[in-house]
Amino acid sequence: MSKVKEYKIKTMPKLGVNIDHVATLRQARGGNLPNPVYAAFLAEQAGAQSIVAHLREDRRHIQDQDIELLRKKIKTKLNLEMSIAGEILEIACSIRPDQATLVPERRQELTTEGGLNVAAKLKIISRAIKKLRASDIRVSLFIDPDKDQINAAKKSGTQIIEFHTGRYALAKNYSQKEKFFNQLKHAVDYAQTQGLTVNAGHGLDYANVRRIAQIQGIEELNIGYSIICKALYVGLFAAVKEMRELIRC
Ligand code: PXP
Repeated sequence: MSKVKEYKIKTMPKLGVNIDHVATLRQARGGNLPNPVYAAFLAEQAGAQSIVAHLREDRRHIQDQDIELLRKKIKTKLNLEMSIAGEILEIACSIRPDQATLVPERRQELTTEGGLNVAAKLKIISRAIKKLRASDIRVSLFIDPDKDQINAAKKSGTQIIEFHTGRYALAKNYSQKEKFFNQLKHAVDYAQTQGLTVNAGHGLDYANVRRIAQIQGIEELNIGYSIICKALYVGLFAAVKEMRELIRC
């Protein structure tokens, strides 16, 4: 019998742009500017394939009305980042984003510091997934690139996971960076054997993104802070376009 070699074709990941920090700037003065919905429009024009916004329980940046307007205006995909708090679940089920990404939330944190501990909260997370899916919302779980968490995610009934890339992004030296990169790569391979769709994000920027984008099997990268920072210098359209080109190479 002749052996047929299988070639995997590398598909480039899609880019999801997180617009939370446009709202952070607006909240600094409590007015209407800058407008996150207009930012979402510009990001889409520049090639963003999804718009990500986190409705935090403390409403520190994105507000309920932003999510309602985004739902009406965006043309690609609305990915609502959220905790599993009852109030937020109700809002999600009424607004119906295309996707909900469940993340852990701590009041004192500056940003989402780690992945969800799905293994420890399997019952309550599975219940949240069921509720969201009953409203036709796809669900993704934001987890660390760790085998136990992947197994728990699989048990929870989700079909999508997003790996927290923060440890790779923040690694202080070469050997740490290699260690966290390899962890991520193995986790992507393992998650694929479990039939999960794999996304990734957090702390990715113009210097560190390419290597992650080249990992076979990552379908979407969600990036916020570095794009919004760059946009201050070059404009949002150019900042999104440049990131899109980087992950394409
Ligand atoms: N993905 C998730 C689930 C996040 O919580 C965040 C941060 O809000 C990001 C991606 C984007 O991270 P960053 O702003 O560091 O690019």
